[in-house]
Amino acid sequence: MDVKTIIEKMTLEEKAAFCAGKDFWHLGGIEEFHIPETMVTDGPHGLRKQAREADHLGLNESVKAVCFPAGCALACSFDPELAREMGAELGKLAQAEDVSVVLGPAMNIKRSPLCGRNFEYYSEDPLLSARMAAGAVKGTQSQDVGTSPKHFLANNQEYYRMSSNSVVDEQTMREIYLASFEEMVKEAKPWTIMCSYNRVNGTYACENQEYLTDVLRDEWGFDGYVMTDWGALDDPVESLKAGLDLGMPGPMPDNAKRIVDAVKDGSLDEGVIDTAVERILNIVLKYVENHKKDAAYDFEAGHETARRIETESAVLLKNEDGILPLQEKENVLFIGEYAKKPRYQGGGSSHINPWKISSVWDEIGTMEHVSWTQGYTDSSRDHNGEAYLREAVELAKKADKAVIFCGLPEIYETEGVDRKKLDMPENQNTLIRAVSEVQPNTIVVLHNGSAVTMPWIDSVKAVLELYLGGEASGLAAADLLYGKANPSGRLAETFPLRLEDTPTYPYYGVEKDDIPYREGRLVGYRYYNTVRKPVLYPFGHGLSYTTFGYADLRLDKIEMTDGDELTVTVDVTNTGKTAGKEVVQLYVQNPSLHEVRPLRELRGFRKIFLEPGETKKVEFRLRKRAFAEWNPSMHDWFVPAGCYHIEICANAQEVLLEV
Ligand code: GLC
Repeated sequence: MDVKTIIEKMTLEEKAAFCAGKDFWHLGGIEEFHIPETMVTDGPHGLRKQAREADHLGLNESVKAVCFPAGCALACSFDPELAREMGAELGKLAQAEDVSVVLGPAMNIKRSPLCGRNFEYYSEDPLLSARMAAGAVKGTQSQDVGTSPKHFLANNQEYYRMSSNSVVDEQTMREIYLASFEEMVKEAKPWTIMCSYNRVNGTYACENQEYLTDVLRDEWGFDGYVMTDWGALDDPVESLKAGLDLGMPGPMPDNAKRIVDAVKDGSLDEGVIDTAVERILNIVLKYVENHKKDAAYDFEAGHETARRIETESAVLLKNEDGILPLQEKENVLFIGEYAKKPRYQGGGSSHINPWKISSVWDEIGTMEHVSWTQGYTDSSRDHNGEAYLREAVELAKKADKAVIFCGLPEIYETEGVDRKKLDMPENQNTLIRAVSEVQPNTIVVLHNGSAVTMPWIDSVKAVLELYLGGEASGLAAADLLYGKANPSGRLAETFPLRLEDTPTYPYYGVEKDDIPYREGRLVGYRYYNTVRKPVLYPFGHGLSYTTFGYADLRLDKIEMTDGDELTVTVDVTNTGKTAGKEVVQLYVQNPSLHEVRPLRELRGFRKIFLEPGETKKVEFRLRKRAFAEWNPSMHDWFVPAGCYHIEICANAQEVLLEV
């Protein structure tokens, strides 16, 4: 039965009801045409399917699912292929659990490191964010399961997210917040998009014709359906007119009645509903017609994939005197709860019921020369903190090296709440200082969903940033600490020295109605570089157990018009003794003309594997958009004539080669 025939046979009431879910997680079926109910559910880094009746906070048990590294970790792999592999895993389990759309990837720009949901999101940079999301979308949809990239648009804080109004100038919106979705929509063609709770320049995202229709559909060619975030719908009639198709969660009998009344009183054209029903039905049928009823999911393989992804995502921030990797014969004291019970995911709608949690202790606890001590406690009920600290210091004196597993407790980072500071818990900072005073070979292993300050950084020799690394993060940590794997992650967000240095300070998290994005397009490294502000660790930073050399940067032209394509090549060599992966980063330094433009912007990246001594030639092709800015008076992309520098960088601050 083709969709148009079905729609012709549906009553107005049925069509109106179909533009909302049937219940919390399901779209209604249409029995007459043998269309079953279909389920949509979270989340970005693992399937959260509630076994019994739904509750929004996910208090009810979800089915077992492999918990993959959260977006904050995955993005640091700088490898969209890895995102695609993870997406495919989500799609496979979704097929096995008969879920038609996985509500992810979560891909809002990290406007401030204080945002409570940053652990779910990828980056402060729109190119990295869009490419990682495109990988995830392609992966899941390769399994004939849909995605719902979220939250469209400019949902960059949790504080008053249901009602706040993101006030963003057109140039910033285009270059940063829309850009983060644009390439993903064009390249990966998501089956659906989830629009956000907040207002965007005065109009709710669910009712915003400019972004839902003019940009998303007419400009970018999106052809799936738009669903609301849960409970985001305000005016069903205005939303349908603007380009929203599905209100979640269902049912919404009052909204269906308002829609029917609007058609009857002539204020809503029935064709508008027909279009929404058609868009939804196209996706429902795409799933139903390809659903593999007997699909089974290989959890062991999924767990191994989660381990491999985290191994490629963790970032080695510091490694003084080559203190890492550890040697098996060294006496190593492991300190901290997270060595036995890793913090591996965030709170809220993305929270997964993990299939199997592997700690670093599971992997190395049986080795001869390792020991463990509590060190600190996250629990406010456990009053032994002082004793844990004293014992950790005493034991650390006698060890060859001390490895402190620490980071942000779950309550610090969850959907619905933003952080008020960037600091780790004081008891952990105290412990790190106390241990490093008696043990010069102190290593810190971090578990956090977003940037933290490190007041102790000068007194520790190494820092390994795991972020929230998924259920197998402990295995990845063991591989990386003992050199079975070579770290290859790079920071997808800047680690500022202190909160006051961030571009949104002191306004972020204070305003709750109009939220002016005062910093404009100077987000993340675009801000710190342009105002020459020092940071703790820059975007793109990450070390390896080997070293890489760069040579022979070449451009196939040094003058071009905006219709040309520029080919850039550079030779990269592994100049060390260990095989490893490098993230080759290409930035364009913009000409400093009359206006304030970001100093340099990431315009290409490639992750490559190199054996010791091996050289590879890496090629980038740059077209107009790599040099363009959005011209608000022309309402279009424009390349101001001038001298642009092509830069190969180790990170957003350190230029290795330029032409
Ligand atoms: C939540 C989240 C969204 C999630 C949805 C369903 O409020 O904002 O990301 O997919 O509701 O749980």
